[in-house]
Amino acid sequence: MKLVGRLAALAACVPQGARIADIGTDHAYLPIELVKKDIVAFAVAGDVHNGPYKAAKEHVEDLSLEGKISVRLGDGLAVLSPLEVDTVVIAGMGGQTIIEILKNQCEIVRSLKRLILQPMVGAATVRRWLCANDWYVLEEQLVQEEGRLYEIIVAEQGDSPSYEPVMYEIGQKLWDEKSPLLLLHIDQLISQAKRIVSEMECSSNAKRSLKYHEYVTRLKQLEDKRRCL
Ligand SMILES: C[S@@+](CC[C@H](N)C(=O)[O-])C[C@H]1O[C@@H](n2cnc3c(N)ncnc32)[C@H](O)[C@@H]1O
Repeated sequence: MKLVGRLAALAACVPQGARIADIGTDHAYLPIELVKKDIVAFAVAGDVHNGPYKAAKEHVEDLSLEGKISVRLGDGLAVLSPLEVDTVVIAGMGGQTIIEILKNQCEIVRSLKRLILQPMVGAATVRRWLCANDWYVLEEQLVQEEGRLYEIIVAEQGDSPSYEPVMYEIGQKLWDEKSPLLLLHIDQLISQAKRIVSEMECSSNAKRSLKYHEYVTRLKQLEDKRRCL
């Protein structure tokens, strides 16, 4: 199966010769593609649930790739030993889950060169976590697949500049590079913020909260950025 769209874009972020782990691998599509294309010689495919783990194992065995892809059952980075891999992909999960996975295995995280992350929601939280934990965003991409927009964040170890708050929402690299999908991305962020603000406006308690004022400010900042495009 040839990868397209989101998974193909994730595969393109993996450096030639990297030793990778795909955490939350599901069917192991990504490591299989990377090994078949000789981009990587070795990969770990990890998943915490039995169903995806078995699917990944069967898929790898069907293709006789057991010598190159080690399929492991376990929570997050706990399936790895330090220095076993230098690049970790965590894709298709919520931003908070991705952060929990990284926080739970600090020693492994410190031994990595590159993180390739694709949060389904909460990309801003992931960007803030990276910047606060000695990772900088090297590259970002927007990928559209079947009508949905996905954000891919590639980070490496090192000091990060601090960004104006709205750039954690938008993605500074996406803004700087004026991705063709940037306008759609900002429009989606504006719609989400508007929805939350109008929901909060139904409750006088919510309207008095700090969160409400944060969302109103965020909405205004996003609208200001959109006008600059
Ligand atoms: C929606 S799938 C994404 C599959 C693939 N990474 C992709 O991007 O297409 C999410 C996968 O993450 C796995 N998962 C969720 N939490 C996990 C954790 N803490 N450690 C490892 N795998 C996890 C789930 O079992 C599921 O197979």
